[in-house]
Amino acid sequence: MTEQSPALDNLLTESRTFPPNENFSAQANAKADLYAEADADREGFWAAQAERLSWDTKWSQVLDWTNAPFAKWFVGGKLNVAYNCVDRHVESGHGDQIAIHWVGEPGDSRDITYAELKDEVSKAANGLASIGVGAGDRVAIQCPMIPEAIVAMLACARIGALHSVVFGGFSPTALRSRVDDQEAKVVITSDGQYRRGKAAPMKVNVDEALEGAESVEKVLVIRRTGDEIPLIEGRDLWWHELVDGQSAEHTPEAFDSEHPLFILYTSGTTGKPKGILHTSGGYLTQAAYTHHNVFDHKAGEDVYWCTADIGWITGHSYIVYGPLANRTTQVVYEGTPNTPHEGRHWEIIQKYKVSIYYTAPTLIRTFMKWGNEIPQKYDISSLRVLGSVGEPINPEAWIWYRENIGAGQAPIVDTWWQTETGGIMISPLPGVTSTKPGSAQRALPGISAKIVDDQANEVGKGGGGYLVLDKPWPGMLRGIWGDEARFKETYWSRFAEQGYYFAGDGAKYDADGDIWLLGRVDDVMNVSGHRISTTEVESALVSHPTVAEAAVVGATDPTTGQGIVAFVILRGNAVDGGDAAVQELRNHVAKEIGPIAKPRQILVVQELPKTRSGKIMRRLLRDVAENRAVGDVTTLADSSVMDLISSGLKSGK
Ligand code: PRX
Repeated sequence: MTEQSPALDNLLTESRTFPPNENFSAQANAKADLYAEADADREGFWAAQAERLSWDTKWSQVLDWTNAPFAKWFVGGKLNVAYNCVDRHVESGHGDQIAIHWVGEPGDSRDITYAELKDEVSKAANGLASIGVGAGDRVAIQCPMIPEAIVAMLACARIGALHSVVFGGFSPTALRSRVDDQEAKVVITSDGQYRRGKAAPMKVNVDEALEGAESVEKVLVIRRTGDEIPLIEGRDLWWHELVDGQSAEHTPEAFDSEHPLFILYTSGTTGKPKGILHTSGGYLTQAAYTHHNVFDHKAGEDVYWCTADIGWITGHSYIVYGPLANRTTQVVYEGTPNTPHEGRHWEIIQKYKVSIYYTAPTLIRTFMKWGNEIPQKYDISSLRVLGSVGEPINPEAWIWYRENIGAGQAPIVDTWWQTETGGIMISPLPGVTSTKPGSAQRALPGISAKIVDDQANEVGKGGGGYLVLDKPWPGMLRGIWGDEARFKETYWSRFAEQGYYFAGDGAKYDADGDIWLLGRVDDVMNVSGHRISTTEVESALVSHPTVAEAAVVGATDPTTGQGIVAFVILRGNAVDGGDAAVQELRNHVAKEIGPIAKPRQILVVQELPKTRSGKIMRRLLRDVAENRAVGDVTTLADSSVMDLISSGLKSGK
């Protein structure tokens, strides 16, 4: 297994625990006996969770795993996902409840009730149908965090079309490869977006991406910044022109429980992103169940805020599907946390009396850097549950979060899961679990996870190895879009005999048997909670005319978790490897993939360390990138290479 970063060592020496507060436990949604209940009858337990949803036709079988690893959950059941997230709340008399307190970055805001959301989604569904979008079609969405983006996702779900949301920060090249892979029929975007106090273009990037894209028939453009943009005759339509005049009546059709709901691309170990496929009944069941229990959400009472972007799985499951299925009132914020000032989040929490706040460790560490005095200026006493997701949270950040944001009271739920798992898998349950700073602790009731060694044997208390999921779960991915072989190879081949899902994460059990996540064991980096593959960045670098070869590693970074460090060999020694060249390469990567993939550092070297079979030894490069003594070099084809790299760096070459 890949050695673990030294920054994680102190995580494992952490021994503080925080038992739940009695008052909290008394009112908590989750009770300790859920674990035993689920263990006694897993399928019965999940069937009970599926009853949270409204089904048009009830399932005849909870799980069909006969064609593993292709699961079918709630077989024969039929439902409409959008109906479950919107209409049924209106029908049960909660049409006036606010669904979304939307906060725009420049200071504009909108409150949208469930009744209004139902009308908006119905109109959008009618609009999409009027341009020929139907069940099974793919709709790519690249939008800022505006209500229409959520409406568009729900409208797709309502008519059985698959949405595929592409994060707004991805480059035209990245968008194009995703559009082509899924053969999207329609693309939805906006004229521009507000980012860090400025209006930035969006539609022009989409135009660049779609040049010659054969599958795309229509591009729908939402007006956000009001910037002048060219519309391509016959292809482009304003969203408001298509949607506003539509009828607010739309009868939702019931789709099979296994009807595809969405595709979401994520990085794997190769350069080509994987289109993770999720389906309807099982996914929504897990999203709703976890949102209810992990966040202790009470419909009509809590105000919930998940700070993720809808371009990531967290935004799908914990802004759109889980919360809306549970009739949540939530804040959706468009912008960056320090626009126009570093207290923006606390100001929003104060204003809307947010009670549940779910964010990422990288942001918590950024808040720490900005200073304790900033949250202290606001009344954030409404907060009662705090969540963390995306990467291991270091104990210092955990304690800071608890003390400074949770007033030393609010339980913190450190939630481990992935794009592929669809919903939270490992997490404390607030009111039940004695929490430990830095540990995600235990698989949720109904979920089964193990840490195993190379031979698939479970390691004992205190032992470390690979995290596997040894039993199917309702929200699990149903495949990689158009690539069955890759699906089997990536997740199911490592422990094929046992039929375990290989998560790609290293983990350890502590003396109590609690799980501590230790980061990826493959070539996937985690930068600010975003997954980026080393190969993707390497391919972007070698696509630049000056680069002969590149090797990329994720080096420990105090704020972003990992930072991207690239080692490049330039073509011909004549090429200047100075600051300007390095800057140009950093920008090139940002242009090829997106700003999130911009390397923190690029080091120009003469050689790369390789094994005799030609594999780059990233472990040694990570040692250099993290400024520590270089480890064992005996398997290198040429063991002097590391000396050359280190001395070259010292002399500034
Ligand atoms: O390495 C794990 C890390 O993020 C990966 C999944 O990334 P993604 O599919 O983008 O989904 C992120 C949001 C669910 C995992 O393989 N990860 C996620 N949550 C945690 C985590 N690592 C440690 N602790 C977590 N709570």
